[in-house]
Amino acid sequence: YLLGLDIGTSSVKGVLVNEKAELVLTGSSEQDLSNPRPGWAEQDPEIWWESTVEVIKNILNQMEISSENIAGISLSGQMHSAVFLDRDMKVIRPAILWSDTRTSSQCQEIYERVGGLENLLENVGNPALEGFTAPKILWLKQNEPENYRRTDCLLLPKDYLRFRLTGEAAMEYSDAAGTLLLDIESKEWSHQILEKLEITPEIMPPLMSSIDVGGEIRPEVADKLGLAEGTPVIAGGADNACGAVGSGIIKTGRSMVSIGSSGVVLAHTDEPEPDEEGRIHLFNHARPNSWYMMGVMLSAGMSMSWIKESMYDEEYNYDEINRMASEVEPGSEGLIFLPYLYGERTPHADADARGVFFGLSARHDQSHFFRSVMEGVCFGIRDSLELIKARDIELEEVRVIGGGARSKVWQQILADVLNEEISLINVEEGPAFGAALIAGVGTEVFADFEEACSKALSVVDRVKPDPEAVKKYEKYYSLYKSLYPSLKDRF
Ligand code: XUL
Repeated sequence: YLLGLDIGTSSVKGVLVNEKAELVLTGSSEQDLSNPRPGWAEQDPEIWWESTVEVIKNILNQMEISSENIAGISLSGQMHSAVFLDRDMKVIRPAILWSDTRTSSQCQEIYERVGGLENLLENVGNPALEGFTAPKILWLKQNEPENYRRTDCLLLPKDYLRFRLTGEAAMEYSDAAGTLLLDIESKEWSHQILEKLEITPEIMPPLMSSIDVGGEIRPEVADKLGLAEGTPVIAGGADNACGAVGSGIIKTGRSMVSIGSSGVVLAHTDEPEPDEEGRIHLFNHARPNSWYMMGVMLSAGMSMSWIKESMYDEEYNYDEINRMASEVEPGSEGLIFLPYLYGERTPHADADARGVFFGLSARHDQSHFFRSVMEGVCFGIRDSLELIKARDIELEEVRVIGGGARSKVWQQILADVLNEEISLINVEEGPAFGAALIAGVGTEVFADFEEACSKALSVVDRVKPDPEAVKKYEKYYSLYKSLYPSLKDRF
C-alpha cells in the first residue's frame, strides 16, 4: 500500500492506494486559518501536524492489515507558504500563507533590486507576486528583524511535515519553484536573486526530486502514529504538481482545470520557456525534467459558496442552485460576474481587484445570479487557458477536477465558454492521490509516472460544447474581457 497526504489550507487529506493504483481508503481533517489583519493569512504549522496525525491514525484504524504493509508515504502541500525555523528547527512564528497579500511593496522592491521583470523571468521563470515566498522573506526581514535574524532554515508546508516525520530537512523542486528563488531550468537556488534580495543563502535547504527518498519514519513518530519505523517517506510535490499527477497530466498536450475554492488551469510542458509578460506561472513538475504552466484564480468555487451564503435560503443546496442555474439562458440575460472577490492572480495579478456584477436589470432574479457566477468563473478559466494556448501548446485534452466539476450545468458552461470538449476522470482526490502515486514511483512499486497514471486513471465522461451556446458566449466573453481594464484604476 501507498499513503498520500495533502497538507492543504482548509484541511489535510489522506488516501491509501494499493499496488494496482486503486484508491482504497480516504481520510481528512479540517483546520482553521487565521486572518490577524485584512489581507493577512497565517497558520501555525503545529495544526498541520495535528491534522496529519489525525488523518494517519484514522486511515490506519480503517485498515484491516498492519502498517508494515505500507511500502511508502509521500506528501503534497499548499504552495509558497513560508515556515521560518530557528537553529533547533523550532517554528519561529506562524507560517505566512500563499493567500496572504501583505507583500505588495516587497514585490515592487524585488523588481527594483533585480532590475525588472525580464531579469526575474530569466533567473526564476516567474514574476514577483504577493503569494510567492521570496516577498514574504523580505517582509519578515523588514517588519520582524529579530525573527529574520533567528531564521536558520526556510521550509514549505509539506517539506516541514516531512521533516516532522523523518527528522530530515530538504525542499523538493516543484515546491521550491514557487519560492521565486529557484532557477527552474538548472534546478539550483538562484544565487544571483538571493544576493540581489540580500537573503542569506544558508537558510535555503538542500534540494531534492519528488521521487527521492526524503527520509524514513522516525521511531518516536512510528510509536505515536502506529506507522512502521523506517517506512520511506518520498519527497512528493507541490499540491498543483501532485494534482496534475493525480489527474494524469504528465505529458504535453494534456491540461487540467480544477474548480476548487481557488481555480487552477494547468498544462504540461517539456520546455521551461516563461511567458514574456509573466502572466502565467511556470514551475517544475513533480514528474522529473518536466514543467507546467499554470493560471491561478483566487476565487472559483469560493465565488459559488459566497453567492450561496449571501443569498441564503434554507432550500438552496447545490442541487437546487444547479437546477435554478440550468433554467437560465447562456449569458444570464446580460448579467456578467467578475470573480475577483479576493483580488486576482491570473491574468491580472492585482491584489486590489474586486468582484463586480455588470449589466443588472429588473429581469434578473436569484437564478441569474447563480448562473452568472458559474459563467464568470468559466470566463476567468478561459483567460488562463488562452494564455497557455498562446504559448504554442496544442491541447489534446482538458480534464476537469474539483468540487465545481461535479455540477452538470457548470460542466456544460465550461465546455461552451472554452469551446473545448472536457473530460471527467475516475478519481477526484487530485493532490493526495498524486502524492500516493509518487510514493509508488519513489519506492519502485510502479516503474514510472506513465505506469502509475495509466493503471490509476481513466476518462469516465466527456462533455462536448454546444455550438449555439458557444456563439453566445463568444459575445459575452469579449464583454467580460473589456470590463476589468475599464475598472482597474477604480478598485
Ligand atoms: C498556486 C497557489 C495555490 C496553492 C493552494 O500558485 O498559490 O494553488 O498552491 O494550495
